Amino acid sequence: MCGIFGITGRDGDTIQILLKGLTKVEYRGYDSSGICISTPTGLSLKRKEGMLDNLKQNLSGLQEGRSGIAHTRWATHGPPTEMNAHPHCDPQNRVAVVHNGIIENEVQLRQILIESGPEVCFSSDTDSELVAHVLAEELDAECGNEVPTDEQLLAAWRRTLDRLDGSFSLGALVNGRDDVILFARVFSPLILALNEAGYLASDISCLAGMVDKISYIEDGDWGLLHPGRIELYDKDGEAQIREMKKLPWAEEDSELGGWSTFMLKEINEQPAVIRACLHGRLSRDAVRGVKISFKPDLVRIIACGTAFHAGMMARHYIEELSGIPCIVDHAHEFRYGTPSGPKALVLGISQSGETADTLAGLIAAQERGYPTLSIVNVETSTIARQSDAILGIRAGPEIGVASTKAFTGQVLGGLLVALRLGRLANKVHTEDLSNLNNAARRLPNAMERLLASNQLEQGLKRARRLFKGKEHAFYLGRNSSYPIALEGALKLKEISYIHAEGYAGGELKHGPLALIEEGTPVVVVSSDGIIQQKLFGNAREVAARGARVIMIAIEGDQEAAAHADVVIYVPKTHKLLQPLMHNVVCQLLSYHVARDRDCNVDRPRNLAKSVTVE
Ligand code: M6R
Repeated sequence: MCGIFGITGRDGDTIQILLKGLTKVEYRGYDSSGICISTPTGLSLKRKEGMLDNLKQNLSGLQEGRSGIAHTRWATHGPPTEMNAHPHCDPQNRVAVVHNGIIENEVQLRQILIESGPEVCFSSDTDSELVAHVLAEELDAECGNEVPTDEQLLAAWRRTLDRLDGSFSLGALVNGRDDVILFARVFSPLILALNEAGYLASDISCLAGMVDKISYIEDGDWGLLHPGRIELYDKDGEAQIREMKKLPWAEEDSELGGWSTFMLKEINEQPAVIRACLHGRLSRDAVRGVKISFKPDLVRIIACGTAFHAGMMARHYIEELSGIPCIVDHAHEFRYGTPSGPKALVLGISQSGETADTLAGLIAAQERGYPTLSIVNVETSTIARQSDAILGIRAGPEIGVASTKAFTGQVLGGLLVALRLGRLANKVHTEDLSNLNNAARRLPNAMERLLASNQLEQGLKRARRLFKGKEHAFYLGRNSSYPIALEGALKLKEISYIHAEGYAGGELKHGPLALIEEGTPVVVVSSDGIIQQKLFGNAREVAARGARVIMIAIEGDQEAAAHADVVIYVPKTHKLLQPLMHNVVCQLLSYHVARDRDCNVDRPRNLAKSVTVE
């Protein structure tokens, strides 16, 4: 939530570089944006409501300078207006601040500031503006109207941070000091990087192509960012040097590369994700790289959104392959619950590795003494560094807000964990591995065939017509196709704004059937065996009440067409991998329905890629 980018030590191209970085972090929030430049004559500010393009087209008056901070916002406090856009300044324009997170003692701070003098006036509804007021006040106390020295900056900054409660990553400019950016990080992501200049950013995507090495600073770190140098202190005020690491992704990995949208690009990257994720980990006779050294009595999975659905898939795998019971919780529910019990392993799943609730859930698990393993995409993320062990899904940067290729990687990660547990429980034998490995090796090609097939294109064309003018849709699955139904519904609602719900087919008659009316689109994520027959029954029940049924069925299924208005076939694969094929169809269906409705699939309204606030 909210993208921050800053640079110090440039000459003449600060604005251009800030815009380039901001473009790459726009997926973190896009309801307003802004830039502040530290110039020899003061702080120069420009902010605009709406997408970043609006700012780009309205830059007149913004002056160049050696340092600048920029922000793209996802509103938490106050509506998405220009007034509430970051950076925020104090009334004298002595400081400018960009903030990601929440200042929890906002009310008390505001009161204290109001009581401190009649001239205090606030120009926004945000909690972030208060940071600018407090910093200006502390600078005043430190050096009056003088330009602060480094020591004075540090003293004022430390006292400012001591007055803040909550979660935040912050960048700040101080008038007269165009050679430095103040930074701080408490429970929100912030990265620093250096070449001859100094950079700060919410995530690595905006630094690719600008620097080679980055520093993932620690929770509680704060200090001064100079051109080519970081002066950093930990939460106890001790000077520290944090390790610089190589940037894991190249610049072109997070570019469109000829695709019309990131979502379509990322859907089509899934065969490559499967190859990369399983490479060196699954073979005929072994599962490698899953760092679990004991057989737990229970696995507890925590995740949010799409990652939660991947967690539901993982539960199927774990229980089926190892016999170990497994509970899947939304991370925010787990966090405030009181789990206790047997020797459990807590498994976190997160694409970004920055989701605040999943991170907090993992910390809560560690505090309760549970070992933690996380399935992540960003292997250098906060969750990755917090967890006792990680399994990277190797999906490359996922930019589209709707998670697609990460789901495939997360499901495969869950499968690898289940196989490892199955080995530890002596339930997965070499023959099982060999069969699965053979199927897994064929899966990427089969998925490529599906993605390129005329049958899929024609099926989607017919299916999407059934959504025309509709405001409600339903997805049905059972067992391993149930999480796919949930994921299909989430994907449709988040990018097309059609209200969609996923149900286990057996649940229909317990309430949801009342919602079916003439023309309601119902997507049935079919399967084989007994589950297939049960889902056919569900399809008949909804069709009898006027629903239009879209069935996703396995190639060779002779009966599916008798129960559906439209059938889309997917290649048959190993039963553990089959749901991934079905899911591709759900993703594409949502994509096309959303495009038919002129929705921005990469930047759906009200959402952001990475939910770094609670
Ligand atoms: O980065 P994470 O995997 O932790 O993100 C979790 C959810 O916020 C994310 O999957 C969200 O539900 C997506 N927008 C769904 O497409």
